[in-house]
Amino acid sequence: MKLKIACLPGDGIGPEIMSSAVQVLEQIAKSYQHDFTFSTNLFGGHAIDETGTSLPKETLDNCLNSDAVLLAAVGGPKWDQGVERPESGLLRLRKSLNLYANIRPVDVYDELVNHSPLKSEQVRNVSFVVVRELTGGIYFSEPRFHNENEATDTLSYTREEIERIVTYGFELAKTRKGKLTSVDKANVLESSKLWRKIVNELSSNYPEVEVEHILVDAAAMELIRNPRRFDVIVTENLFGDILSDEASMITGSLGMLPSASKSGKGPSLYEPIHGSAPDIAGQNKANPIAILRSVAMMLRDFNLVDEANSIENAIVNSINNGYLTGDLGGNSSTIEFTEQVVKELQFQT
Ligand code: NAI
Ligand code: MG
Repeated sequence: MKLKIACLPGDGIGPEIMSSAVQVLEQIAKSYQHDFTFSTNLFGGHAIDETGTSLPKETLDNCLNSDAVLLAAVGGPKWDQGVERPESGLLRLRKSLNLYANIRPVDVYDELVNHSPLKSEQVRNVSFVVVRELTGGIYFSEPRFHNENEATDTLSYTREEIERIVTYGFELAKTRKGKLTSVDKANVLESSKLWRKIVNELSSNYPEVEVEHILVDAAAMELIRNPRRFDVIVTENLFGDILSDEASMITGSLGMLPSASKSGKGPSLYEPIHGSAPDIAGQNKANPIAILRSVAMMLRDFNLVDEANSIENAIVNSINNGYLTGDLGGNSSTIEFTEQVVKELQFQT
């Protein structure tokens, strides 16, 4: 298969984990005879330094002309006080590609149950997916402003925006354990009342899917108390952002969790859920598992199922062979872990 992949390494640990991802993709291309081409574009803080904007036109055009976009991470203290923040490029990229569905699988590896801050019997066999709405809600809504004495953000959702993300959640639940948990704050927020009403309306199209509604504060508690109860969680942008970082800790580290963001048409975007980790940037310490699993999600979306499975297996085998980065209590470097995964891939095929 021929695939044109736009790579956006970004800032902090971004270039280190992107290098990992490209090495693994090159090995997959070799083992399975695919033709993957990679282009690298400026994005985030580095793009601000060189071009004055975090999402240069050339970068956006190249993403639109690619089959998939692979993003590492953006941001860092250097750009926090600037006129434009690197993260604003990320929001514009998501909006420009219309990536309304952010899919975040949370799977606990059996090998890592002892690395979770929660008790191992609590987290064993946890497997659920957070479906986060990504192009609406308070991150995008108008009006927003601030002055010396007041600041305003607005949380607003349309029926159409809610319907398409909730439908995505139902369809996904149908292919999994058949349970959909809708997270909202319907006891307070008007947008949540509409959200809940629409979930109930759509549920009649999915008699095989069991639906539950949980308020976001209770959901935060349930994720810790009994994470195995979840199958598919569907929620709005801000709640999904917060709950998925919380969920990542069930797996042991923020460096584990991948994501895919989709529009249904046009290129999808694949990225780890973590940020640019400025505290460990440039030190060859970053855990590349989140970006490698994002790569596996990408390949699966192109129906390259064996290829995706072989990456997942190579990661598990590397862990079993004692390769762990510092965030998981080990002492492998990013480069050592990546080399081991590539070796496992060569061995498998
Ligand atoms: P962060 O996710 O970058 O880091 C939080 C903690 O997790 C740090 O201690 C970091 O060392 C650790 N960590 C994260 N990824 C890791 C990995 N792969 N391996 C090992 N350890 C890892 O979040 P933080 O510190 O709040 O934000 C740092 C910068 O990243 C900020 O500028 C923020 O705005 C930006 N950010 C960017 C995102 C993106 O590009 N999608 C998402 C979240 C934050
Ligand atoms: Mg976040």
